[in-house]
Formats: sequence, structure tokens, C-alpha cells
Amino acid sequence: MSTPSIVILISGSGSNLQAIIDAVAEKKIHAEISAVISNRPDALGLIKAKTAGINTIVIDHTKFTDRQQFDEALARQVAELEPALVVLAGFMRILPASFIDQYEDRLLNIHPSLLPAFKGMHTHRRALEAGHSEHGASVHFVSNELDSGPVVIQAKVPVLKDDSEKALAARVLKQEHIIYPLAIEWFVSGRLSLINNKVHFDNKPVEEVATWQSNILCLPQ
Ligand code: GRF
Repeated sequence: MSTPSIVILISGSGSNLQAIIDAVAEKKIHAEISAVISNRPDALGLIKAKTAGINTIVIDHTKFTDRQQFDEALARQVAELEPALVVLAGFMRILPASFIDQYEDRLLNIHPSLLPAFKGMHTHRRALEAGHSEHGASVHFVSNELDSGPVVIQAKVPVLKDDSEKALAARVLKQEHIIYPLAIEWFVSGRLSLINNKVHFDNKPVEEVATWQSNILCLPQ
């Protein structure tokens, strides 16, 4: 069987990208990264990808006269790569419905909150302001609504007394680097799939979400 290829879309520092690169190198993910695409030429993640010898592609959204042209260029590029899985890792552009529809059963995102709580930006600040005692991150299949779509796995961390936004963000990010490679490996190895908009694990529809908390993995029953 040929090695499944994944395409990773980034806009920024690429720490999740690095975790995925490392997991591929350590054979914890059985796939190859065929390209890293950034909409920002200055994204630090591009350096991380180049250092690992991965093909990098910049599709600078500021160089397009309108949004549709950028969307079409991105769609063309991704289609050319024929990925088994598209991974959004801090990609800060909203994808058009046509793209999401085309890749809906093979498009993953990671969001820094315990979805459905805190969709959108500034999730750590909002979790602190809301006085939550628990916060975290979610890997989910992407749907047409922002930061929505069936959740695959969540990492939960405690919110500590006198926590700062920065400290909480760092605690969550560390867990993101564990659960995203895990979910990607589940997908490329065929354990994880989306059928009729429902997460399936080992070909069975799951009602619960897998969780990673205090280094313990709870798989859905
Ligand atoms: C992470 O917080 C991720 O949850 C969100 O964007 C951020 C990307 O960070 N979607 P990095 O570029 O992977 O460091």
C-alpha cells in the first residue's frame, strides 16, 4: 500500500506543524507530508518545513485582487497534490464552502478550546474571564460553520488559580502537540473516519469524544 500523503496549511509559527513533522520522522504518523502551504510568506512554520526538507508553497492572499481568486488558487494547488488528508494547523483564512465540501471527510483542524465552548479568537482569555476550571483544545473535522464540525479528540487542562492568559495558552498548546499527531495517525491508518457527518472509530460510530487528560487517553466506546 502506498504511503498516504498529507498537506498542511499554516499561517503562523507552526508549532503544531513541528509536532506533526516530528511524529512523521519518529514513525508515529505513517504518512508523508507532501507540502506545507502558507498564505503568509513570513510564516515561521515555513522555515520549520524547509528545515525538515518538506516542499513549501506560499499562496500570499494579499497578492490577489479578491477573495475568490485566492480561494481558487488554493483549491487548485491542494487538488494538484491529491492529499489523503488536509490538515489545518493555525491556518488563519476562512475556507470557502466549496473547499470544505470537497474535503469534508478528510479535513482536520485544531482549535484551542473545548468545543463547542469558545469558538473564534482569544479563547484562553475568554476561558479565564468566564471563570472556567477546565480548558483545552479540540481536533475536529471541518464543517461550514466557523470552528465547528464533529470533534475527534479533546485535550483537557486545569485552569489554575491566578493563571495568566499566556500560561494557560502554553499549557494548552503543549497538549495540542500530543493530540493532533494522534488524530492524524488515527486517520491515515484508517481507524478514524467521518461517515454521514459522524465520527467513526474502528468503523463504529461514536457518541463520545476521545479525551486526553493528565496523560491518560480515553477512547470512545
Ligand atoms: C494553535 O493554538 C491552534 O490551536 C490554532 O492556531 C494555533 C496555531 O499555533 N488553530 P501554531 O502555529 O501551531 O504554533
